[in-house]
Parts: sequence; C-alpha cells; structure tokens
Amino acid sequence: LENGLALTPPMGWLAWERFRCNVDCRADPRNCISETLFFEMADRLAEDGWRELGYKYINIDDCWSAKQRDAAGRLVPDPQRFPRGIKALADYVHARGLKLGIYGDLGTLTCGGYPGTTLDYVEQDAQTFAEWGVDMLKLDGCYSSREEQAEGYPEMARALNSTGRPIVYSCSWPAYQGGLPPKVNYTVLAEVCNLWRNYDDIQDSWDSVLSILDWFSANQDVLQPAAGPGHWNDPDMLIIGNFGLSYEQSRSQMALWTVMAAPLLMSTDLRTISPSAKEILQNRLMIQINQDPLGIQGRRIVKVRGKADVFGRADRSSTGGHNKDGEGGDAEKHEQESCGSWGPAGTAAPQGKEKSHIEVFLRPLSHAASALVFFSRRTDMPFVYTTSLAKLHFPEDAVYEVQDVYSGKIISGLKTGDSFSVVINPSGVVMWYLYPMALPAQPWHVVRQQA
Ligand code: DGJ
Repeated sequence: LENGLALTPPMGWLAWERFRCNVDCRADPRNCISETLFFEMADRLAEDGWRELGYKYINIDDCWSAKQRDAAGRLVPDPQRFPRGIKALADYVHARGLKLGIYGDLGTLTCGGYPGTTLDYVEQDAQTFAEWGVDMLKLDGCYSSREEQAEGYPEMARALNSTGRPIVYSCSWPAYQGGLPPKVNYTVLAEVCNLWRNYDDIQDSWDSVLSILDWFSANQDVLQPAAGPGHWNDPDMLIIGNFGLSYEQSRSQMALWTVMAAPLLMSTDLRTISPSAKEILQNRLMIQINQDPLGIQGRRIVKVRGKADVFGRADRSSTGGHNKDGEGGDAEKHEQESCGSWGPAGTAAPQGKEKSHIEVFLRPLSHAASALVFFSRRTDMPFVYTTSLAKLHFPEDAVYEVQDVYSGKIISGLKTGDSFSVVINPSGVVMWYLYPMALPAQPWHVVRQQA
C-alpha cells in the first residue's frame, strides 16, 4: 500500500501469541489483556533498548473491547480492563517514542467473540481508531464471507486513508482465502495493504515454526515477488522468549524470518525475557538485514534431501537454484550442490543414516551485499556442510568479506570458487552477511599505461 508507511518490515510487539484472550484480570492481573499489560510492555520497549533498535510498535490484539458498541455505535474498550481508554494509552505510548497498534475484525464478531466491523461500520471504526491516535490496524477476518472481504478490506484502506492519519494497515485477508492464487490476488493485496497474514497462526512450538517456513518456501514463487517496501508477507509473530523453542530454534526463527523480510513482531513477556532470548532479538546486524531498504524477500535456494552417511556419501540429492525451488516440478531439474559434501562435525563416529536435511536461504541486500542462512533440520549432531559461493550461484570472480551474524566472526577474501564449510547445529542455523570487497588494482592498468 503506497501510503508512505512500512517502507521496511514493521517491528515491535504484538500481544496475541503469548497473551491470547486472557481476560480474567481477577485471577491473573499481570497477564490479562488490560491497559496495565500494554503500559508495562511500553515501558520495557522504551527502557530496555528495543525502541532504539527499531521495535517501535506496541500492538493490541483481540479481546480489548467491550462486548457491545456504545449508544452511538462506536467501538469502546472494556471499561474494567482499559479504564483510561485507548486514547490515554496512545498518548502514553507516543510520549515514549513508540507507536500503538490496534485490532479489528472484518465480520460480525472478532475471532474471540467481540464486536466486529461489518461493512456498515468500516468508516466509523477507521474514524474512531484515528481519533484515538492509533498508528497501526490489524484487520482480522473471522465471521465474514469471501465477498464481504473482497469489498471490506479495500474499503478499510480507503477509510483509513481519508482519516488523514498515517496508519499502517495489516490485513488477514489472504489467510482466510487459503493464501494462494487464484483466490488471492497479490497484486491487489500489495495495493490495498501494508502487510498481510498469508497462512496459519503461529503457536508456541517448533513444529509450528517449521510448518510456516515450509509453506512459505513451497510457495515462494508466488509470495516472494509480492513483497517490497510498503507491502510485506507476514509469516506471523516471533515466539522467541516463550516456552516452545530451544536456543538453536530461537536463533533459527530469527534468521529465517529475517531472510523472509518478515515483520519482526515479538510476542513474548518483555518483563521476564531471558538474556539469551533478548540477545537474539537485539542482534544489530540481524535487524539491519531485516530492515534492508531494498526490501527484497529472500528465497530458499537449496534443499538437500536423501540420506547422508557419516561421510555424507550415500544416496544424496539436492534441489534448488536462485530462481526455482519447491517440491518436485522445476526444482528437480536443479541438481545443485551435486559436488557438495557433508558429514557430522567432530569425530568420525558413525551416526547411522539420517536425511541430510540441510536448507540454504538467500536474501539479496543493498550495495550488492547478501545474507545467507544455512539451516539444519537434522536431529543428530552438529553437521559440517561444505559448499562454495559458486555452487550457490554467486557471480564468478568476485571476492567477499563475510561476517557471521551470530558469532561476529569475519572471513576476509572469500572467492566465489573457494570451497568452505559451516558447522550447523541440529535445528540451528549459521547466518552470513556477505559483501563484495573492493578489488585491488588490476595489472592491466599498468600495462595500459606503459603502452
Ligand atoms: C486469528 C489471527 O490470525 C490471530 O493472529 C489472532 O489475531 C486471533 N485471530 C485473535 O482472535
């Protein structure tokens, strides 16, 4: 959506995955959906280094409103849980250099059963949100038909625009239409929305992260070109800091969401987050990559299947390429990495046979830089993956400086043809930031001067 907003993927905090529709403030005052939760999270965003890194949005999700609209038909917050009202919350958030997001649902009810925004309320609700000083709207799609959504989502874009207030517009529209053409028209979507949920809700588990990743990768030919400055695919919240992911898996979600150019909306308790989760979420180079101004979404370029023995020799196959990947079809034609080798790290202790399960993702960045993520889906032990930039289709005869995004380690002078190895932990990643090095003066300069 060309409203001048979300030129890079939005960053911030969103209540849903961690706090859900917990409205029992008597039993659970600290974690229920109430203004206290948002005041406290705003303090954390402002005071613990998040805001400076770009985590600016603090977003309310479902279950904030009263069970009924007021006499004038306006949406109102639950009076017990939000006694000071949304405007006061917005003022508080703005005073701390942050922005406030709110949630609505195009339909008769929100998914949680609160008043929805039917077509006849679109304009009034947009007006209400703008008057409160809201900076982002997530418009969910429970309890509406395909036809109502086709009318209502663009209508809300117009209504928000005519309030005159800059409001980032997040649509759940495609997620309710299966996420794929012909039901979803990504050209239209990019004109109507700043970001959109394509697929299932994330849950607090590694399985959920993998199923989202797999769906986005399998459909990357459709999804990847749809993203760009002002219009982003949204694979859903970051669940780092919660209960479902190990340390390695947390690093993987962060790296994979970053190469997917995903919005970085954390859904975790910032009051109690562990130092290690915080460190992952606050990795500066990671954020710089996620926020790259070109806004090109990355792609999965290698998917190694088949079985590898301890020396990686047996029955292996891989697919991929810069342009094509996926299950079957074109992907099978790209026998990339056929010369690559791999094996478990460390000793040569036999590990039995397990599918290699290595995937490589690439995101092109500005200034001819790029990000590579080497991802292991193995469950045995750290794995030595050997390849070269040539095999990953980098331009010939180039020389790169490489920075490991997590360790900070730098490799200088890596040539496209050089073979290299990375050691990838089970369900973990190695992430590289690469940029071409200035080439030394070439001998032909001298030759020409002499001539
Ligand atoms: C479905 C959405 O996909 C979730 O992110 C969340 O907003 C819930 N609805 C709220 O009911």
